[in-house]
Amino acid sequence: MFTNLLICAVFLCIRPSASRVLTTPAELSKKGYDFIIIGGGTAGSVLASRLTENKNTHVLIIEAGDTNEGVVNAMVPFLGVALPGTTLDWNFTTTNQTGLNGRSIPYARGRVLGGSSTINLLTWNRGSNDVWDRWARLTEDSGWSWKSVAKYYFKTSRLVAPADGHNTTTQDIPSAHGNGSVEVSVPEFPSELDNCVIQTSQQLGGRLPFNKDLNTGNSFGFSDTATAYLNLVENWTNLDILLLTQVTKIIQTGKEGKLKEFRGVSIAQTASGPTYKIIAKKEVILSAGVIGTPQLLMLSGIGAKADLEKHKVSVLLDLPGVGQNLTDHPLLPNYFLVDSNQTFDAVLRDSALFGQIIGEWSTTGQGLFVDSPGNTQGFMRLPENSSIFTKVADPTAGKGSGHTEFIFVDGFAALGPLQQPPTGNFMTILTAVASPTSRGSVALASTNPFDKPLIDPGILSSDFDIFAMVQSIKDAQTFIQATPWAGFVTGPFGGLATALTDEEKASFARTLAVTVNHPVGTASMSPSKAKWGVVDSQLLLKGAAGLRIVDASVFPVIPECHVQALVYTVAERAADLIKSKHGC
Ligand SMILES: Cc1cc2nc3c(=O)[nH]c(=O)nc-3n(C[C@H](O)[C@H](O)[C@H](O)COP(=O)(O)OP(=O)(O)OC[C@H]3O[C@@H](n4cnc5c(N)ncnc54)[C@H](O)[C@@H]3O)c2cc1C
Ligand SMILES: *[C@@H]1O[C@H](CO)[C@@H](O)[C@H](O)[C@H]1NC(C)=O
Ligand SMILES: *[C@@H]1O[C@H](CO)[C@@H](O)[C@H](O)[C@H]1NC(C)=O
Ligand SMILES: *[C@@H]1O[C@H](CO)[C@@H](O)[C@H](O)[C@H]1NC(C)=O
Ligand SMILES: *[C@@H]1O[C@H](CO)[C@@H](O)[C@H](O)[C@H]1NC(C)=O
Ligand SMILES: *[C@@H]1O[C@H](CO)[C@@H](O)[C@H](O)[C@H]1NC(C)=O
Ligand SMILES: *[C@@H]1O[C@H](CO)[C@@H](O)[C@H](O)[C@H]1NC(C)=O
Ligand SMILES: *[C@@H]1O[C@H](CO)[C@@H](O)[C@H](O)[C@H]1NC(C)=O
Ligand SMILES: *[C@@H]1O[C@H](CO)[C@@H](O)[C@H](O)[C@H]1NC(C)=O
Repeated sequence: MFTNLLICAVFLCIRPSASRVLTTPAELSKKGYDFIIIGGGTAGSVLASRLTENKNTHVLIIEAGDTNEGVVNAMVPFLGVALPGTTLDWNFTTTNQTGLNGRSIPYARGRVLGGSSTINLLTWNRGSNDVWDRWARLTEDSGWSWKSVAKYYFKTSRLVAPADGHNTTTQDIPSAHGNGSVEVSVPEFPSELDNCVIQTSQQLGGRLPFNKDLNTGNSFGFSDTATAYLNLVENWTNLDILLLTQVTKIIQTGKEGKLKEFRGVSIAQTASGPTYKIIAKKEVILSAGVIGTPQLLMLSGIGAKADLEKHKVSVLLDLPGVGQNLTDHPLLPNYFLVDSNQTFDAVLRDSALFGQIIGEWSTTGQGLFVDSPGNTQGFMRLPENSSIFTKVADPTAGKGSGHTEFIFVDGFAALGPLQQPPTGNFMTILTAVASPTSRGSVALASTNPFDKPLIDPGILSSDFDIFAMVQSIKDAQTFIQATPWAGFVTGPFGGLATALTDEEKASFARTLAVTVNHPVGTASMSPSKAKWGVVDSQLLLKGAAGLRIVDASVFPVIPECHVQALVYTVAERAADLIKSKHGC
């Protein structure tokens, strides 16, 4: 296992004050726009910032949600966990999951400027070199290799001193970080767990080695968390942001040679309200995320012919990959009782104390809430001789990538179906499958753009995924038996205590597992001539002109790490591809 400082991507802050913020279509510029970006989320915001660097380029973002300004929970890293299920969330749920004993689980996606990066938990991983090199192989485009994308990654983020100013020499490797707008840092409020985790990985070695900074090219090992803040501080006089407005359809505007041209969009603010049509001079860029992007393509007649016909949508492009290959990281909370009253359990149970800590954060920017609740993270590889490898080829991108992940939380992380118990002090080890082989889909439930689509991530539906999850539970138990934990952990809590055999551990996992919220792949890139995939390696829709897709849906395979730094990096490269194509 590589343990590492958890590098977190934190908070995407667009300064709407520096651009024109519109709340009704009537305010749209009469002069028109070169680029229309659908979705002011993670990728959409990066693109808007880069494309408007040229003051002659006029860009419109259309975002379904509201501004992220002044949303306290979105600004306080610790409270990121409280955002799913609020007005900032689309509130999607999955179909009943066979791998989860038929449970349906919430499927959080940001519906706000900044998108899912506004509601996420700030972990910042760039992905091992082999993650990127596999993309290059799958797309037959060396432009996606680590060697080629490194410069884009370095444009996304920069390492900064933590708020408390402590000396981080032993905690990060500055050369692994770049010059961009996302500020990343090691945790500012060290938790009592941090040293236990790091000493244990230093002590155990082997499959559990210490990795000082996970962002150096090998993504396994253990380290601390780092937090990233993205501030796009350009003065955007050539950017309009239309909020509270949904794109309901992408429209064919003609033909370019043999290719269908899609440069138009329909928009509406409510299901019953009026619709408006807008046309981009250069491109429509679809950045509606891994759920919104395939849903909108299908509503527009772009998808698998049979599925579209089932809903009586007229087929403009038969692209069977649309909505397929949805892949996500399953997450399991393993709870342990601990002999400590330093955990955050008390804070969550005491509203006065909670208020006091929020107060501390808002007045001084210090205190418990400056970090997200997990400070340390580790990635591990399965033992080489694991029985699963007689049936399944190693799904990782390479030996620098992990099969499973740990995140240590100093308290009861109520991420799954269980609520925090009224008494007791806890540690949660979140274990995850980093290289899942399960695949799912996004499908239309109806042709009403305001209806939610059917989301089936297929959590824990493959033999490999359940095998890896069971191994991660065993590894968590081994890890906390090391001497640095002596006297701290008093024992497993709940179903974990009675899950003794592999079968019982598998069943325990199916009862409590949820998602790390890392879905990707529903509009995958692939080589231009390949039958699979939705966009080519330049991210242009196959068989079409004028429409490009830039968001997590284009990932050709899930990376063995947290995904947001890769979304930023993809968007940075896309911005260059767009600028060079249009000379702007
Ligand atoms: C709760 C949570 C925690 C996470 N934690 C982490 C983490 O710690 N580390 C990490 O690396 N990653 C994390 N992630 C994942 C990461 O945030 C996402 O992968 C990433 O932000 C996705 O970026 P995107 O551009 O693809 O989509 P998004 O950022 O989701 O953007 C899509 C945007 O499009 C808008 N939209 C959708 N449909 C329409 C439409 N029809 N019309 C107009 N607008 C539309 C949406 O409202 C949204 O703003 C987390 C995600 C969640 C939800
Ligand atoms: C999500 O659910 C919450 C709680 O019910 C609600 O306040 C919010 O408006 C919902 N979000 C959307 C986009 O409907
Ligand atoms: C999903 O599960 C719920 C609860 O068990 C059940 O009521 C519902 O009918 C199931 N839905 C489908 C489509 O099977
Ligand atoms: C930080 O610590 C390292 C060794 O741990 C030391 O060499 C370095 O001088 C320290 N830096 C500062 C600014 O104190
Ligand atoms: C950071 O930017 C400076 C100047 O702006 C440049 O000299 C340096 O090479 C950049 N570093 C990285 C890692 O990109
Ligand atoms: C933005 O505009 C303000 C006011 O015109 C100016 O003071 C500031 O320097 C500008 N910032 C950037 C990054 O260009
Ligand atoms: C899913 O992606 C893989 C590549 O990772 C590809 O080979 C396969 O054809 C895709 N499946 C579908 C249904 O598009
Ligand atoms: C925390 O634990 C210590 C040692 O067990 C004890 O002395 C102290 O009173 C406890 N504090 C609280 C607030 O419970
Ligand atoms: C794998 O190897 C280890 C030691 O090298 C051994 O203890 C273990 O039993 C082996 N596991 C299997 C499934 O063969």
